[in-house]
Amino acid sequence: MKIDLNVLGRQFRLHQVEYEEAAVRVLRSGWYILGPEVEAFEREFAKYVGRKYCVGMNSGLDALTLSVRALGIGVGDEVIVPANTYIASVLAVTENGATPVFVEPDEYHTLDAECIEAAITENTKAILVVHLYGQAAQMDRICEIAKKHHLYLIEDCAQSHGAVFDGTMTGAFGDAGCFSFYPTKNLGAFGDAGAVATDDEAFYEKLRMLRNYGSKVKYHNQLEGVNSRLDEMQSALLRVKLSHLEELTEERQRIAEKYLAGINNSRILLPKIRGKANHVWHQFVVRVKDRKEFQKYLEEHGIHTIIHYPIPPHLAECYVRLGHKRGEFPITEQYADEVLSLPMFNGMKTEEVEYVIEVCNGYGE
Ligand SMILES: Cc1ncc(COP(=O)(O)O)c(C=O)c1O
Repeated sequence: MKIDLNVLGRQFRLHQVEYEEAAVRVLRSGWYILGPEVEAFEREFAKYVGRKYCVGMNSGLDALTLSVRALGIGVGDEVIVPANTYIASVLAVTENGATPVFVEPDEYHTLDAECIEAAITENTKAILVVHLYGQAAQMDRICEIAKKHHLYLIEDCAQSHGAVFDGTMTGAFGDAGCFSFYPTKNLGAFGDAGAVATDDEAFYEKLRMLRNYGSKVKYHNQLEGVNSRLDEMQSALLRVKLSHLEELTEERQRIAEKYLAGINNSRILLPKIRGKANHVWHQFVVRVKDRKEFQKYLEEHGIHTIIHYPIPPHLAECYVRLGHKRGEFPITEQYADEVLSLPMFNGMKTEEVEYVIEVCNGYGE
């Protein structure tokens, strides 16, 4: 059997007629950027997350970058970021001229709340928390620390649509909840898209200006903005997917439950679920000491896997200027050396899940 990491066509086919109807509706409308579909999606998504406002943008990176900018964070400021994350979380900080201060992850792969306070200085302006792989970070402690030190809290929810901590949706804790709708995400569009959710009206208005050349009124440019507008097509398609997100999440959870119950091999460390949190399984990430051999073995059995992420941001070539060295963040570096994402996607067949389990259990025999 051959199994890809993700087969995007399957999630499309699950609700094909609805997507096609939405697409045709937009094509026929004669209006393609920032229009009624965007407004409706923003309203519906804000409600879903449990926030007052939502601003649609071009991408998750823009959602993060413009949030950092709209909070007034820039040169000379420091932002606490997880060392164990996708580089976009860090680029949002450096793009604004601010300095990322890396903090190690806990056993759930997200920012270790107990290590944050040691990294705070008089220049710290914000904590940027990432709900990696689809599971919320330790939000009770992190909110407490942000409040105590008067820091902004920015949530990177690119991988956590629908993930909840203690009854609150990720994206509803911080000053800004930043989402990516990249096609492979749990709430994926059919192209690039992103959004910020917030309760703060002034912040919301500023983001709306920043995404559209810094203007509220056409040709009156009050801020040095960018072009990060969301289009009608992506919004209409996202509205369809949002209306099915709960069932899509449950499907991922059923696959994860099967993996967790079925994979039983002392060489493979399974992911853990945090107390008070659910998991929406954007990725199902295992850890294996001899990852290279394991990945090769899976590939030989037709199972395609990927590493999220092989090079942590502090060791990325583009950040040599930050002066970090290998060994500085040993937990992050160990994760980068051991993690592997197994196939996990909507529309994955039972026999495919069972095959992955069987092959995993046969490893090393
Ligand atoms: C954790 C995280 N943050 C931010 C992003 C950036 O999102 P986008 O690709 O939509 O710019 C991603 C996307 O891969 C991500 O995984």
